[in-house]
Amino acid sequence: MKNTQMKEAPAKNLAFDLMRVTEAAALASARWLGKGEKEAGDKAAVDAMRLCFNSLELSGTVIIGEGEKDNAPMLYNGEKLGSGNGSEVDVAVDPVEGTNLLAFGRPNSISVVGTSPAGTMYNPGPSHYMRKLVVPNAAKSVVDIDAPVADNLKHIAKALGKDVNDLVVFVLDKPRHEQLIKSIRQAGARIQLHRDGDITGALMAVDSRSEIDVMMGTGGTPEGVLAACAIKGVGGQILARLDPQSYVEKEAILNAGIDLREILTVDNLIKGDEVFFAATGISGGSFLDGVRYTGNGAVTHSMLIRAKTGSLRYIQSFHNWDKLMKFSSVDYD
Ligand code: FBP
Repeated sequence: MKNTQMKEAPAKNLAFDLMRVTEAAALASARWLGKGEKEAGDKAAVDAMRLCFNSLELSGTVIIGEGEKDNAPMLYNGEKLGSGNGSEVDVAVDPVEGTNLLAFGRPNSISVVGTSPAGTMYNPGPSHYMRKLVVPNAAKSVVDIDAPVADNLKHIAKALGKDVNDLVVFVLDKPRHEQLIKSIRQAGARIQLHRDGDITGALMAVDSRSEIDVMMGTGGTPEGVLAACAIKGVGGQILARLDPQSYVEKEAILNAGIDLREILTVDNLIKGDEVFFAATGISGGSFLDGVRYTGNGAVTHSMLIRAKTGSLRYIQSFHNWDKLMKFSSVDYD
């Protein structure tokens, strides 16, 4: 059938600019690898990210910031980013996803940013935690967040052409997941337990090159929205429901008029497809290699996604201190 859709010339891919933002945050924060100082690593990333973001020709508003949950140094919700000119975008940031992973030198801390046109990003209000089920494209229509774990695993395995005992499920290693872990084991699937970092878990679940087939369990709500930015581009599904972990959180959500029963999908979390995503590895790991300092520079590894075209790029960048540190206001050296 003839495609009658209006043709467009290639447009700007903002993900390239966003990659420079996550690279800067990763380069600045990786200096704190294993130093046990969670806040210092986060602050280095926040400062570098803000500086780089503000050099971009756009008018951004942070919808998904971090800080309130941990009292961390923050790019706060409602903060304006960019030059103030150019397109108006909602911004999701996680300067260091896995602040403890970085502080203790554990794998898989990454720096992450996503954008979508103003008004299209889910605003979680006072919600901190969300239950998530993330699957690759081939299994996106066979899952149900309310179904028993064993049923979901059976359907996912069938959709992926595997047996249940072939599956690997990414789960955060938290006491709240004791029953979930039991159920996955009883169903016969295998598990990768990670202390932190469920954006990486979601990215691995939708990446066919990774050994992870599905991510299950409760993690941060902001992390769920950021994961949705990436899933928009590469395909797959995130099914989620707010899952307050304290009475105070639950009351705040209800007082904000948010329905705790609502099931959120990738399309509720991010509307439309003018969505851009970038992530850079900080501490390295099974998904994105970390920052490697070379003496007179550094090497970074990033992924970039443009949802409209579905383009996914892995970029290795070589940074040269001899040149960069003559003028950079961020001290990477
Ligand atoms: P931080 O980078 O803010 O420390 O978040 C790490 C993380 O593991 C997220 O990946 C996850 O969504 C969330 O924390 C889970 O929260 P908690 O550790 O409170 O269970």
